[in-house]
Amino acid sequence: MKVVCTVADLKKEIDSQRKRKLSIGFVPTMGALHKGHLSLVEEAGKQCGCVVVSIFVNPTQFNNTNDLKRYPRNLDADIDMLKQTACKLVFAPSVNEIYPEKDKRKFDFGKLETVMEGKFRPGHFNGVAQVVSKLFDMVKPDKAFFGRKDFQQLAIICRLNTMLGTGIEIIGCPTVREPDGLAMSSRNKLLNEAQRKNAALISQTLFNAVKKTQTLSVGELKKWVIETIDKNPFLETEYFELVDDENLDPIENWEGKFNKTGCIAVQCGEVRLIDNVKF
Ligand code: PAF
Repeated sequence: MKVVCTVADLKKEIDSQRKRKLSIGFVPTMGALHKGHLSLVEEAGKQCGCVVVSIFVNPTQFNNTNDLKRYPRNLDADIDMLKQTACKLVFAPSVNEIYPEKDKRKFDFGKLETVMEGKFRPGHFNGVAQVVSKLFDMVKPDKAFFGRKDFQQLAIICRLNTMLGTGIEIIGCPTVREPDGLAMSSRNKLLNEAQRKNAALISQTLFNAVKKTQTLSVGELKKWVIETIDKNPFLETEYFELVDDENLDPIENWEGKFNKTGCIAVQCGEVRLIDNVKF
């Protein structure tokens, strides 16, 4: 496994893999790797001849400077973890390498960015689109792998990919969970012991909510989820929304054959956690 930090070295390595006729699978990450990331790398290894992982904490997607400062970083541990996987090439650039000048591009994702994360984290998806479009252009992969835990991000990236006409195949991979159900996230590392224990209530509540669709209306179910979580002194719900998978339009009743997902963001102390389940 090789580690490169510049775009020039990245391109050299990718060219040599291309000459060997290997397809490129790309897993973009912000580091602080966990089993969720490793499952993406594993899937990329099954589907592609060469797996490239980027590790870059992208400043433009943080709408809160404190969140950016606190975001966990441990490049050496990440590299050690990746050595045990199918990853062949790690791209760990500096901020200057990705943004030699300020990225002023504004992307328009229409309604997709007006709900949920888009509403509560203004500018976040524009920053994600800036970095992902740059990384796609640098790596030029055949396939790119993203976790479904970031449900809305995945929808935005699919739209971005269509807008850019890259021809890259976007693969959404299942959320990986801790034994108590908490969705794996780099931010879990920031939870103290008591917060970590109580955070399991988020996914447990979502799983229980799925069983209540026969007896509760959408409005009642949303209220039940928020009240159940907010009763716990460690947790405060920012939003819980039931949306149509296709366009992320919030749904008001159970009628209609479209696929539905329940998405949640919860503040646990200083740490913001998100999760989602299919309904
Ligand atoms: O999901 C993430 O870790 C980030 O948003 C991504 C896609 C790597 C862009 O910085």
